[in-house]
Amino acid sequence: MGSKTILYVIYLLCLSAWVEVALAIVPVFNVINYGGKADGRTDISQQSVVLDSIQQQLYGANKNVSVSLKQNDGVSYVYTEKSCNCVEFMNQALTNAWKDACGSKVGSTVLIPKGTYFMGPVLLVGPCRTASIEFRIEGTVVAPMDFAALKTNGWITLRNIYGLTISGGGTFDGRGQKAWAQNDCSQNPNCEQFPANLRFDFLNHTLVKDITSLNSKNFHMTIFKCNGMIIQNLKIKAPGDSPNTDGIHIGNSEFIAITQSVIGTGDDCISIGPGSRNITITHVFCGPGHGISIGSLGKYQNEEDVVGITVSNCILSGTSNGIRIKTFPSSRPGLASDLTFENINVSNVFNPVIVDQEYCPHLHCNQQAPSLVQLKNVKFKNITGISSSNVVVNIVGSRAVPCQLEIGDINLSYNGKDGSATSICSNAKVVLSGRQNPPTCARS
Ligand SMILES: *[C@@H]1O[C@H](CO)[C@@H](O)[C@H](O)[C@H]1NC(C)=O
Ligand SMILES: *[C@@H]1O[C@H](CO)[C@@H](O)[C@H](O)[C@H]1NC(C)=O
Ligand SMILES: *[C@@H]1O[C@H](CO)[C@@H](O)[C@H](O)[C@H]1NC(C)=O
Ligand SMILES: *[C@@H]1O[C@H](CO)[C@@H](O)[C@H](O)[C@H]1NC(C)=O
Ligand SMILES: *[C@@H]1O[C@H](CO)[C@@H](O)[C@H](O)[C@H]1NC(C)=O
Ligand SMILES: *[C@@H]1O[C@H](CO)[C@@H](O)[C@H](O)[C@H]1NC(C)=O
Repeated sequence: MGSKTILYVIYLLCLSAWVEVALAIVPVFNVINYGGKADGRTDISQQSVVLDSIQQQLYGANKNVSVSLKQNDGVSYVYTEKSCNCVEFMNQALTNAWKDACGSKVGSTVLIPKGTYFMGPVLLVGPCRTASIEFRIEGTVVAPMDFAALKTNGWITLRNIYGLTISGGGTFDGRGQKAWAQNDCSQNPNCEQFPANLRFDFLNHTLVKDITSLNSKNFHMTIFKCNGMIIQNLKIKAPGDSPNTDGIHIGNSEFIAITQSVIGTGDDCISIGPGSRNITITHVFCGPGHGISIGSLGKYQNEEDVVGITVSNCILSGTSNGIRIKTFPSSRPGLASDLTFENINVSNVFNPVIVDQEYCPHLHCNQQAPSLVQLKNVKFKNITGISSSNVVVNIVGSRAVPCQLEIGDINLSYNGKDGSATSICSNAKVVLSGRQNPPTCARS
C-alpha cells in the first residue's frame, strides 16, 4: 500500500467513526410531539382559574364540565376537558414520551420545551433500557392548585432509574398557597399529607442540575433509597412562612452531593434523615428557612444510622437555625456519627449551632424518657457570623447517651438586647480546639 492509500484508509476509518458518532446523537422525545401543549393564549393566573375548576371536575365524579372565561384577547373561550390545554394532555404526553425515551437502546432525552404547561401528578418509572436518560425541562410546569381528590404524595415522581439527568433551566411550580392554608399538621398528628414537588425514589447514578422548584405544597424534593446523586445549581423557593416546605430531604440514601444551590423555604433548607450515608453539602445558601438539619432521628423503630455527613462552606441568612441536629426523646436506639460542619457563615440566624436531643415538635412525644440516639464524632469548625439570639451555641445532649462533640474556631456575635453572646451545654462531652468567641459551653 502506498502512503496515500494508507492516509485514505485512515481518513475512511475516521469518517466512519464520525458517522457512528453522528448516528448516535441522542434521540429527543419532545412532549409537543406527544400532544403536550403550552398555553400561549392566557396568562397563568387566568388559566389557573379555568384549570382549577375543570380539574376539580376531572378528578371528581362529574367529568362533563365546561367553563367559559374571557381571555387576554377579549374573546370568551369555552373550555372543556377536551379543549383545555391542561393536565390530562400534558400527563399523557409526558408519560408517553418517557416510555419511548426509557425504551430507547441508546441514551435519550425527554424534552419539555420553553412554555408554560399545566400538569397533574405523573410517575416516571424505570428500569430503562438505556443506561442514560435525560429529563430536560426548559419550560415551566405548573401543578393543579387542588390535589384533594388525588391522594398522592408526589407531584412528579421518578422511580427505579439508573443514569438519570434532570436539567434544562426550567421550573416546577407547585402552587402550594392553597395547601399551606389547609395544612394543620402543627395541631393534627394525623394531618393530610400534601404532595412533594419532586420525589426521587430508588435512583442510582443521578445528576440533577440547573432547575428551579417553586412553592411546593409540601417538601420540594425528597430523596429516598438513592445511591449516587449530584445536585447542582438548584433554586428552591417558597415563602418563609409556608409550612413543611423543606427544600431537600434525604433518607435511606448514600453518596449524595448537594452543591452551589440557593434554597429559601418555610422549613428546613436541607434535612437529612435516618439511613443517610456519605452526604456532602457545599456552597449552599440557605434563607429564609429553618436551616440545615440532621434529623429528626429516633422516631421510628429500626431506623438506620446516619454516618458520614459533611456540610461546608455554606451561608445561612435570616434562618431560625443554622446547623441543627435533632433527635426525639424516649426514642429508639440509634447512631449518628462522623458529622462535620465547617466554614459556615451565618447572618441574622437565631440558633447558629444547635443540638437538640429533646426535640419534640408540637409536644407530641413523651419528654420524660431520654433520647437513645448516640451522637458521636461530631465536629463544628470555623462557624462565624452574627446571631439573632444571645445563645449562639446551644447543646442539649441525651441524659442516657451524652453526645460527643468537637468544637473549634467559633466566632459568633450578638448585638441585641438580651445580653452578651453565650453558649449553653448539657449532657455533652465536648472537646475544644482553636478560638472560641464566646467561650463554648460557658453555661450549663
Ligand atoms: C355534557 O354536557 C352537555 C351540555 O353542556 C350535554 O349536552 C351532554 O349531554 C352532557 N353529556 C353527558 C355525558 O352528561
Ligand atoms: C440501584 O442499586 C441497587 C444496589 O446496588 C440495586 O439493587 C438496584 O437494582 C439498582 N437500581 C437501578 C434502577 O439501577
Ligand atoms: C463514607 O463515610 C465514612 C464515614 O465518614 C468514611 O469513613 C468513608 O471513607 C466514606 N466513603 C467514601 C467512599 O468516601
Ligand atoms: C472560615 O469560613 C469562612 C466561610 O464562612 C471562610 O471564608 C474562611 O476561609 C474559613 N477559614 C478557614 C481558616 O478555613
Ligand atoms: C458571610 O456572608 C456575608 C454575606 O451573607 C458576607 O458579606 C461576609 O463577608 C461573609 N463572611 C465570611 C467570613 O465569609
Ligand atoms: C470575629 O468576628 C468579628 C466580626 O463579627 C471580627 O471583627 C473579628 O475580627 C473576628 N475575630 C476573629 C478572632 O476572627
